[in-house]
Parts: sequence; C-alpha cells; structure tokens
Amino acid sequence: MTEYVYRPCDQEDLPAHLNVFHPAVAAEVRRFHSGMPGYAETPLRNLKGLAGELGLRHFCIKDESFRFGLNAFKVLGGSYAMARILAEKMDLLPEEMTFERLIKLRDRAEKGETTFITATDGNHGRGVAYMAAQLHQNCIVLLPAHTAPDRVRNIAALGANALVTDLAYDDAVRLAARMAEERGYVLVQDTAWPGYEQIPLWIMQGYMTMADECLYQMPAPPTHLFLQAGVGSMAAAVAAYFSSACSKSRMKVILVEPDHADCFARTAHSPDGSICRYPGEMNSMMAGLCCGEPCPLAWEILRRRAAHYVTISDATAALGMRVLGNPLSGDHRIVSGESGASSAGFVIELMRSPELAALREELRIGKDSSVLCISTEGDTDRENYRAVVWEGRCPYPDKSGRNDGVCI
Ligand SMILES: Cc1ncc(COP(=O)(O)O)c(C=O)c1O
Repeated sequence: MTEYVYRPCDQEDLPAHLNVFHPAVAAEVRRFHSGMPGYAETPLRNLKGLAGELGLRHFCIKDESFRFGLNAFKVLGGSYAMARILAEKMDLLPEEMTFERLIKLRDRAEKGETTFITATDGNHGRGVAYMAAQLHQNCIVLLPAHTAPDRVRNIAALGANALVTDLAYDDAVRLAARMAEERGYVLVQDTAWPGYEQIPLWIMQGYMTMADECLYQMPAPPTHLFLQAGVGSMAAAVAAYFSSACSKSRMKVILVEPDHADCFARTAHSPDGSICRYPGEMNSMMAGLCCGEPCPLAWEILRRRAAHYVTISDATAALGMRVLGNPLSGDHRIVSGESGASSAGFVIELMRSPELAALREELRIGKDSSVLCISTEGDTDRENYRAVVWEGRCPYPDKSGRNDGVCI
C-alpha cells in the first residue's frame, strides 16, 4: 500500500563538501562522458497523451535503457569515479582527464593493473565491469543472494569475475570493503560510510550527466521531481543538481522507495533525522532499490531538498511498467524495469487514486505541473519483465497480504 512521510525541508545551502553538484561541475562530468566510446544522450520522452490523461502539463520520462547499451543509468557513476581514480594514479588533473588520455597513459603505464571490486544488485556492477573492460583493468563483482541470472550473465559477459554470495545487499557491500582492504583492490561502491566518501561522491557526480541532459531536453524546468531511491545517491545527485540549476523554491522533490526497503521513509520519520535501517527481508521485485541503509552523503542532501518520502508496493511499479510499455496514441513506448518504472508508476497512481487526493493537494500537482521521472533501467531482468507485463504477475506478495503474486 502506498504511504508517505512528510518532513519539512528548508532548502538550506549544502555543507561545503557536498556543494559540488552545480551545472559547471556537471558540464565537466558530461565532457568526460561524451569522450567515452558509445556515448549518446539518452532520450527524454515528453508523454503528451499520458500527461493529458493524468491532468498534468508535462509528464517527461528520461529513458535510461539506452545508456551505453547497458540498459541502465548506473554506468555514469562508476565510470566517472574509476576515471578519477586512475587519473589520480597517473597524476592527471580532473580538467585534463579524457577517456583518450587515460587509454594512452594506461598503454604506457608502469604502475601496474588495478583490480576494482564492488557489491551490487546488478546495474552498478554491470557499469563497473563495463568501464574496467574499457580501461583494460580487472574487476570483481559480488552479488547478493537470489540475484536474477540475467543480471549475473550480463556482468560476466563483460569479463568481470561475477560472484553470487549468500548475503543481503548491505552485507555484500561489507564483504567487498573487507576484501578490498585485505587484498589491495580498489572498492568502487555507490554508498558511503565514515572514512569512505570520496569515491561515492565521484559516483554521485557522475550521475549529473543524466540530470544535465534532462534539463536541456525538457520543454520546461520541472516543478515536480519524482526520484526512486535505493541508497539515495542517484536521487541526491539529481535533486542537488536541479535545485542548483533551477529555482529551488518552486520545485518539489518526492522520494519513492519500496515498502519492503523503506530506509529513507524511516529516516525521515526519525525526530532527530538520524539514519534508520530497514530491519526486515527486502522482499521486493525492485531489486535496484532493495537497500536497507541510506547513503549518509545522500541523506545529508535529501534532508535539505526533499520533503515527501513515499513508499510503494510492487503493484505500483508493475503499473508503471505496464503503462510505459503500452503508450497512448502519439506517445513513445518505454521499456522500463521494476526499479526504473517505480517513480512513474507512483505518479500514475497519485493522479488517479481518490485515496491520494490529499497528497495531490499538498504537492500542488495538476494542470500547471511539469513532472520529471527517470526510467533508470530497461528490462534488466527480462524474465520478470515478461511475468509482470505479459502475465500480470509479481514475484512477492503485497505487505498487506492481498497481492498473492498477482499484480493489482
Ligand atoms: C535501476 C536502478 N534505479 C535506481 C537505483 C537507485 O540508485 P541509488 O542506490 O543511488 O539510490 C538503482 C540502484 O542500483 C538502480 O539499479
């Protein structure tokens, strides 16, 4: 069932170490990405038919299924961070850093190979494996228990050592950190903890390429930004970028996460804003969002930029997958996976459900609103995509017990 927590935020300035999500920095990051082989802007679909149906001015969806042929946005973060790591090793300044230079210096390198390691639900690991292959470096990817075989295959196909563990995501991250320390690998993790902040911050900066593309592709700046969260790094980077690039007073940021991994809603609910974990088993098909613990850097940003923290069930993500995959006349089709379709699914529910009228009012969302969602992945788990879209089935029952495997 869809629920939400409201926590007022005052849009105060970010602390200095997090004040690194400006359009000028984004331009630098985008300059780097655009020099990578295979770079192309991903499309932003202005769904006019669906906007009309839902009573919105604009409903724009950024389609990340086209990103570097990897079916998800995640490579933007890992690739930028790995480039920064190698550039530092090669005494290259960030402004001198291009993909071509990294390759040339690598060919002449006397400093030996690097082994990158990460833990991931799939998309981040595929991005790290892709960049390691591009840079001819080694890569180990630890995957949580029950990772979809499609996702494991995609990582192994890039030459990485893909190891499925019997651990939950957060424990797999701890194992990757321990292995990096003991064996001299470089950990490329998309979440931070005390003492491990620089690389996650570079990863977050890498996501700004996507936000920067959106801003220039949109017919009008967003009034409502619906962002799905796992550890929250993507949402924080995008929210910080937009609030720096656009008037922050008008834009509302709404965070969306699975009810079975609602660590941000719990954290937003805590009176002193201290970080809370999701204690149970993360039984959601939104694999990319199944994270039990917010990234502390992301929370520092989001607590200042987002006031609404929504939790949704798999049925809402399934709704998004079906609607985006079956467009109204004139609209583009978007193949959007479970995590990818979660925010759009919530917008569709929000605009149609009588039970959410009070929230619509609170968000002042309607015919003058320009809504942006990011479909952060395509059908990264093809088997489940078909189960949802073709057969109307979800793998996990609803929290209320009503949804016994059937999408409702
Ligand atoms: C497809 C997809 N969307 C969204 C996210 C959430 O990103 P973050 O963990 O930075 O919140 C992920 C994370 O892996 C993902 O794979």
